[in-house]
Amino acid sequence: MSRTPQSIPEKPHDEQQRPEQLRREYEDSTRAAHYRDDRWTRSPRARRTNAKELAIVEGFVQQCTSAQGEPGAQAMLDIPCGTGRFRNMLQQHGSTLMSIDASREMLTAAPSAPQLQASAHQLPLLDNSVDFILCSRLLHHFETSAERATVLAELARVSGKWIVLSYFDNANFQAWRNKIRGKFRGRFPISRSQFQSEISAAGLKERDRRYIQRGLSEQVWVWLEVKA
Ligand SMILES: C[S@@+](CC[C@H](N)C(=O)[O-])C[C@H]1O[C@@H](n2cnc3c(N)ncnc32)[C@H](O)[C@@H]1O
Repeated sequence: MSRTPQSIPEKPHDEQQRPEQLRREYEDSTRAAHYRDDRWTRSPRARRTNAKELAIVEGFVQQCTSAQGEPGAQAMLDIPCGTGRFRNMLQQHGSTLMSIDASREMLTAAPSAPQLQASAHQLPLLDNSVDFILCSRLLHHFETSAERATVLAELARVSGKWIVLSYFDNANFQAWRNKIRGKFRGRFPISRSQFQSEISAAGLKERDRRYIQRGLSEQVWVWLEVKA
């Protein structure tokens, strides 16, 4: 089994500096190649999680398409796209797909067009410029509500309609075990009520959610609608 070449961030961080600190963690060609080649295939568990996440996101995409009543008419944004894990699936459902990531190394590891290097905290896109945004495995990297709020506000500004995102929930075995162990991992689970108040403040409403392993694992997927 290959090991994850992850660097654990240093503990105290400045709210303003965290997005840049996180971007730098991913500006690493070894880590990018690992993410592309091993991260989701290195073990049966990794493969199961990957397959499950793809199925959950695809299910939500299909629900968006039916709710919109225009099959295939969705302009999509994948932010952060990483090394393009969701690209093929998204391309089957949308009319266009834009891929954005803060890390040049991650983009270079899986080039696709069109793609852009930019931060989710400041998207270089017009208001309501896409119908659907996927934001996979980003929010749990931010400790403070303010850091998450900036991302949520940007997603709500750029999406005219739908957002599917993941975050780490704190009411499960994995989160409790990590808390008891007291290890700083650079991953920040939050409560469901905290999540609800943050999305509501950003003008978003939850339509549905799916758990990777309810009660066991932290990762939760949520389908959101931009409030009219
Ligand atoms: C765990 S990976 C997830 C990649 C992809 N979404 C997936 O699920 O396979 C986290 C990604 O977030 C990117 N990232 C980190 N900070 C970011 C920011 N502020 N804006 C956009 N992307 C960011 C990293 O470069 C990395 O590609």
